[in-house]
Amino acid sequence: MRATRILFLFFWFIGILAYTSFCANVTYDHRALLIGGKRRILISGSIHYPRSTPEMWPDLIQKSKDGGLNVIETYVFWNKHEPVRGQYNFEGGNDLVKFVKLAAAAGLYVHLRIGPYVCAEWNYGGFPLWLHFIPGIQFRTDNEPFKREMQRFTAKIVDLMKQEKLYASQGGPIILSQIENEYGNGDIEPRYGPAAKPYVKWAAAMATSLNTGVPWVMCQQADAPDPIINTCNGFYCDQFTPNSNQKPKFWTENWSGWFRSFGGAVPYRPVEDLAFAVARFFQRGGTLQNYYMYHGGTNFDRTSGGPFISTSYDYDAPIDEYGIVRQPKWGHLKDVHKAIMLCEEALIATDPQIKSLGPNLEAAVYRAGSTCAAFLANVGTSSDATVNFNGNSYHLPAWSVSILPDCKNVALNTAKVNSLSTISSFTREIFKEDSDSLEGSSSGWSWTSETVGISKDDEFSKVGLLEQINTTADRSDYLWYSLSIDLDDDGGPQTVLHIESLGHALHAFINGKLAGSGVRDAAKKLDVPVTLVAGKNTIDLLSLTVGLQNYGAFFDTWGAGITGPVRLNGLKNGSTLDLSSQQWTYQVGLQGEQLGLSDGSSGNWNSQSTLPKNQPLTWYKTNFAAPSGNKPVAIDFTGMGKGEAWVNGQSIGRFWPAYIAPKSGCNEACNYRGAYNSNKCLKNCGKPSQSLYHVPRSWLRPSGNIFVLFEEIGGDPTLITFATKQIESLCAHVSESHPPPVGSWNTDAESGRKLGPVLSLECPNPDQVISSIKFASFGTPHGTCGNFIHGRCSSKRALSILHKACVGSRSCSVGVSVDIFGNPCRGVAKSLAVEAACT
Ligand code: GAL
Repeated sequence: MRATRILFLFFWFIGILAYTSFCANVTYDHRALLIGGKRRILISGSIHYPRSTPEMWPDLIQKSKDGGLNVIETYVFWNKHEPVRGQYNFEGGNDLVKFVKLAAAAGLYVHLRIGPYVCAEWNYGGFPLWLHFIPGIQFRTDNEPFKREMQRFTAKIVDLMKQEKLYASQGGPIILSQIENEYGNGDIEPRYGPAAKPYVKWAAAMATSLNTGVPWVMCQQADAPDPIINTCNGFYCDQFTPNSNQKPKFWTENWSGWFRSFGGAVPYRPVEDLAFAVARFFQRGGTLQNYYMYHGGTNFDRTSGGPFISTSYDYDAPIDEYGIVRQPKWGHLKDVHKAIMLCEEALIATDPQIKSLGPNLEAAVYRAGSTCAAFLANVGTSSDATVNFNGNSYHLPAWSVSILPDCKNVALNTAKVNSLSTISSFTREIFKEDSDSLEGSSSGWSWTSETVGISKDDEFSKVGLLEQINTTADRSDYLWYSLSIDLDDDGGPQTVLHIESLGHALHAFINGKLAGSGVRDAAKKLDVPVTLVAGKNTIDLLSLTVGLQNYGAFFDTWGAGITGPVRLNGLKNGSTLDLSSQQWTYQVGLQGEQLGLSDGSSGNWNSQSTLPKNQPLTWYKTNFAAPSGNKPVAIDFTGMGKGEAWVNGQSIGRFWPAYIAPKSGCNEACNYRGAYNSNKCLKNCGKPSQSLYHVPRSWLRPSGNIFVLFEEIGGDPTLITFATKQIESLCAHVSESHPPPVGSWNTDAESGRKLGPVLSLECPNPDQVISSIKFASFGTPHGTCGNFIHGRCSSKRALSILHKACVGSRSCSVGVSVDIFGNPCRGVAKSLAVEAACT
């Protein structure tokens, strides 16, 4: 008896020990990640810390949690942290530790994708430029100098996380880490030849050797060596299988929309399709899914990759660039997450049993003991279907999944959006100057011209044409190529300056005047008709990069700038003058950059003479008071051409409203049914790709803000306005038979009888209230937010009931049933549609 007791106590003690030492251990099996020994369903979202501000982080993280995420994912941005080799920066907006701790404080896990190659539409894919200049280096291959640097930085980050005890194995939030990024893609790894495989093996072994205590992943790396988990990136990953039956099925990038480019239209991804993709993934055995992006944010400064990635990285993500939840995307996904989490016990208990319910119709059942969850899918792109499952009949719209957490009741169908939708708008304000800071200028602006051609004293001369990135080391977007030539005569009226370059954009000045410009392909072969004079002529070519390449095999060596030939064609005697091998004079960057004009404190600014408009190479400056309140702020650059802008010395990014998206190819109401791709759903055709530029609130003071911009091609700064973003209308449309349990029910307090689902409205900002009901109809209303219309059947009471319940409050709830509204039409399925204004 005593011996049994001792034995029992012994095992009990061992049990406790095992529990305490392994409780935060993270491992995996063929089904899922195990945290503290328990399989978990993980719903994750990407938020890149440098694409917002530390002041925005807590709110973004909270909104992620409220949206039903349990993991935040971020890349680590090497070129932010080590701008100069050996000089690290983890301060302010680079405070990765703070970001990870904020996620932890909100109760969320973290997936840290170290890379350190990250792609991410980020300048040079995240690599610092100095890396390129290390002798003998070749990126992303079996090359000692590269591997040494990659290992050093990876270890640096791992050590930092360990010091701060941020790995789950130490009780912190980090449950997963990534090494490399999509190296296995068909257009990448094969191009590196036989050195590729050893590099992959090395990267895997190097990462593993860092002993983080949590698993590593490699995305899009079918041959990821054990114990690394290979994961899927894409618009859909339900068909993906990992490279071993010991590994779980993970989706590291579910593209929630797509990125925008200067010169392109604005991509968006309908939430019905995104929700379908998510549900299909969990239906087919997935257990970790990450939205790339959940908040896209902004490419401030010169961080955007490219070339030509826009400053906005909004991505049509569930939280918009400004930090406002995007509805109905955020809300519908929240409902999807709820429905999936209701299935968690069944999902982690077992593997799915997949069976066909007919052509394009599929059921997956997770049954273990008394728990059972099922997913019913219609993957057809056009026809709705009715299926029989477990003796019940279910309606499945085309391209949708129904989630049944108890194998019987439908918690949610991905194509039926019941969440709030909103209409947001920007309110324009004239640029407000402080009256005492106009510097005597009637326009409120002062200005200074950038010299055409060489103006700095660090210019240098070289015979021949130089590749730009090797020359500038990306210290500036700009490189001047200058030449002066002597001609016997004026060359004649047919003279054309022919320039061949690697891009990205260039402006050609002849004798101090802008003669022609080219961007993209037009910059690669530019023919500019020129007027020359007999005697001395100056040719000043301003070549510029617009974000360094971030994707592609050997992208680090693609280069930019004018590599030639450069010729004068069509001279009088029919001859050509090749200028390529002349002695060119070079200047890296602008004079204004060297003078530090961007913070407004130095330089010779003119304010008395007439403000130049539509003049290339002009710096402008003004002072302003911040728009009052706390709504997110943008600057509307309509009227300007192209350049970069700074608020209180902080770069808000490159602006380029003059670059108009193609006229065609857009589709404002895109059909969500059928496979999505990044060109399928575009809006904003024929308009500037980006006219609004985010200015984080925390960069502003109430008054006396300094705004500086450099305009390259010409514009009118007096047309610039502020815009503040707000939610103008809230809409909800809930049907009487809105299915439980994702929707909430209104029950009779006394009898407990279900009276119907509840329609809830809430203004997004705590300082907003519902000021009016713009539309309310109980019956058969139809249409979408902003365009609701009454159907044939409509209760007379709806408007007054909603008015009474909602106006004057930030939020309100109304039961959707005949008990409340009366019955305007018997035997007809009814719904309640409401549009309310928030002010
Ligand atoms: C992926 C890449 C990401 C990002 C994305 C497109 O291929 O891994 O970093 O570039 O494409 O937004």
